Amino acid sequence: MIILSRPPPLSSLPPNPRIASPAPHRFSSSSSNLLPPQCQTTERGHEFETGGTFYRRESAVGRDLGVLAASLHKRSSPQLRVLDAMCGCGIRSLRYLLEADAEFVLANDANDDYRSVIARNLSRVSDEGRWLVSSNEANRIMTECYLKRDFYDLVDVDSFGSESSYLRSAMNCLKLGGLLYVTSTDGYSSGGHRPHHSLAAYGAYVRPMPYSNEVGLRMLIGGAVREASVLGYRVTPLFSYYSYHGPVFRVMLRLNRGKLLTNRHYEFISYCTKCGHSQSYSWDELSKLSCTCNKEGGSLVVSGPLWTGPLHSASYLTEMSNMAEQLGWMGNGTGTDLQKLLQLMVDESDPKLPFGYIKLDEEITTYSLEYLRLPAVPKSTPLHLGP
Ligand SMILES: C[S@@+](CC[C@H](N)C(=O)[O-])C[C@H]1O[C@@H](n2cnc3c(N)ncnc32)[C@H](O)[C@@H]1O
Repeated sequence: MIILSRPPPLSSLPPNPRIASPAPHRFSSSSSNLLPPQCQTTERGHEFETGGTFYRRESAVGRDLGVLAASLHKRSSPQLRVLDAMCGCGIRSLRYLLEADAEFVLANDANDDYRSVIARNLSRVSDEGRWLVSSNEANRIMTECYLKRDFYDLVDVDSFGSESSYLRSAMNCLKLGGLLYVTSTDGYSSGGHRPHHSLAAYGAYVRPMPYSNEVGLRMLIGGAVREASVLGYRVTPLFSYYSYHGPVFRVMLRLNRGKLLTNRHYEFISYCTKCGHSQSYSWDELSKLSCTCNKEGGSLVVSGPLWTGPLHSASYLTEMSNMAEQLGWMGNGTGTDLQKLLQLMVDESDPKLPFGYIKLDEEITTYSLEYLRLPAVPKSTPLHLGP
């Protein structure tokens, strides 16, 4: 009989020299001394320490949205286990524990210097046991969880730039029906300024288009759709949030078994530089690319493949609004911005709205009115996607 010896835990093995390490400067606390050590601050009434970690107050709305989704998940599932793969000072982890009442949070950040700050912050909630701090590279910790069959209900990867290598490892350690909260801060790619980079990161060749904020979200979702289908899964966007600071593109996706049944919603988008019209093309229709204003072609800019389906689920957003109400985040002037944002996202979920948000006044000055094809339905301006 062959007895296989138990392998050492992944975290104790030396790194594979063939895998490029994430930029070391990101893990050095000296480069991220954004605030003085021991600096105390508050968010949604919770006091915590930021120390010299990476913390942005502007990201609080993104954290609010994550907590609302986590709270909804908790309501419909036996438990809520969260993996916060790039946790900074641990404010998200703290909020998932306190506000979404998570049973367990694994708070990870590759910067080992952050460990004590994270632990002190989470100790304010409970003793260790309900939470654990780790200092691993995100792909490593997520793969380790997958190999240990330690699956999570929500995996939050608050990454920089267009890091997409974590998508697959995050999906691997997520329970079916679980939530994946992912981020991109690559405004160059969404603006079409480095199409080969977006092609490498998200599998989408992105060209400059006037609605780059929306394209950034569609690029990120499309990348996740592609990774999910490799694993035999499909992802559905529950909400998509663009924020100007960064810029930051955040998407909450639900993971389920099964592939996209058709290529619908994963297509190419064309934009006509002559008349401003946008259109989607499936893979089969690529040979037909032309705009009705200019049959000879030459005026089209094409990006893709991108996610061309809905960016949000209206019913889910309504549940999020109700949850925000229950948490006391709406009304009394305190939650006005969140309230407005959620309503705006509901408006953007109207399936009759064409994709490709346009600023009507700019289009009218740029293109002759005879070319401007207004959508059949009144378009509620999805401001949150606007430049
Ligand atoms: C945007 S900050 C996180 C902010 C935090 N989630 C919050 O809401 O305040 C990204 C964090 O990821 C960490 N990081 C960067 N690359 C990483 C990697 N490959 N694996 C794990 N952590 C990483 C950085 O040290 C940094 O603290």
